[in-house]
Amino acid sequence: MSERPPKPYGAGTPHGTGGVRALSHVAIAVREADPLVETLVAALGARRGDEELLDDGGLRVVFVHLGPLTLELLEPRRADHTVARFLESRGPGLHHVSLEVDDLPGSLARVKAAGVRLIDEAPRPGAHGSQVAFLHPKSLGGVLVELCEARREP
Ligand code: CO
Repeated sequence: MSERPPKPYGAGTPHGTGGVRALSHVAIAVREADPLVETLVAALGARRGDEELLDDGGLRVVFVHLGPLTLELLEPRRADHTVARFLESRGPGLHHVSLEVDDLPGSLARVKAAGVRLIDEAPRPGAHGSQVAFLHPKSLGGVLVELCEARREP
């Protein structure tokens, strides 16, 4: 009797549909992920997480868990990958900040209506079966932002 009905989809996010639930991860572009993983484990007590190949094998992604923070190390495997070009022009460093949302299409519509430039007009596949879309850093203080909707467990 005291049990409340489940909230409608997206209702738990601030400011209604399209809001951000949590920091998903911070992504760092590197030429080689393994040495950085080893440093993070030895120096900061990080825990190595999963890894996978994305973009038809063009990008190796290694997750590292550091307290409440998840880092996503991006190691390009092809010279023409966007992360390879990023390394070429800027060197290793912060690549993007990923924000978890409940309703990626709704979030994209909201972001677009607010005048933010989109890199991805529509969601595309990310790591762990997620859907992601990138927002243009020119609209967001110079930081590349990824919106990420986690795969829903069936
Ligand atoms: Co990411």
